[in-house]
Amino acid sequence: MYRIAPSLLSADFARLGEEVRNVIAAGADWIHFDVMDNHYVPNLTIGPLVCEAIRPHTTAPIDVHLMVKPVDRIIPDFAKAGANVITFHPEASEHIDRSLGLIRDAGCQAGLVFNPATPLHHMDHVMDKLDVVLLMSVNPGFGGQKFIPETLVKLRAAREKIDAYAARSGRRILLEIDGGVKTDNIAEIARAGADTFVAGSAVFGAGKDSDPHRYDSIIGALRSELAGVAA
Ligand code: DX5
Ligand code: ZN
Repeated sequence: MYRIAPSLLSADFARLGEEVRNVIAAGADWIHFDVMDNHYVPNLTIGPLVCEAIRPHTTAPIDVHLMVKPVDRIIPDFAKAGANVITFHPEASEHIDRSLGLIRDAGCQAGLVFNPATPLHHMDHVMDKLDVVLLMSVNPGFGGQKFIPETLVKLRAAREKIDAYAARSGRRILLEIDGGVKTDNIAEIARAGADTFVAGSAVFGAGKDSDPHRYDSIIGALRSELAGVAA
């Protein structure tokens, strides 16, 4: 029912394959892969070559979050590199419907990402092409920022739109949250309507570097918070 997606942004970049294996062994569902271009956001991270390099380390879905502008040129490269889900920001594409179509045509699930101040109406006329809606609960660019509380209000509004769409279409769109998710707020975030949770610093900051089981207790703690919501 709930998916936990650790963000590699806070992982040890010198040992990415091992980090991916350990976090999935600890019970994570997806690998969240943050792509930044020092143009759409003021930071520079990883691209298709790194996606391709981690692909053999897991069968779990790789959730590519594009914080790049423009987006269309790079979409097929990520599909070829083994991405399963590709999301982008509406501000970063001149033709949102076309970009969503490109992702689907490449065989991936497609999603739109909403910055804290970006209105939700961008999803209204492309629902049929959406598999995921991702709400940013921080301004994109960096890990370790604080959750913006207004996002809870926005989550409830997004949940309503998605549920209304599911009722008329029979299609389920996932509602993902990204930024500042921790054990002390994940339950409240789930109650506001999220079903998929990105967590970077909370997960990769846990435990001791040398311990291969260092992520077991943090993933377990996030899960037990979520179990309390479902109960
Ligand atoms: C921010 C990224 C997030 C980030 C989340 O631009 O999109 O995925 O890694 O990190 P935390 O969980 O530390 O806020
Ligand atoms: Zn992200």
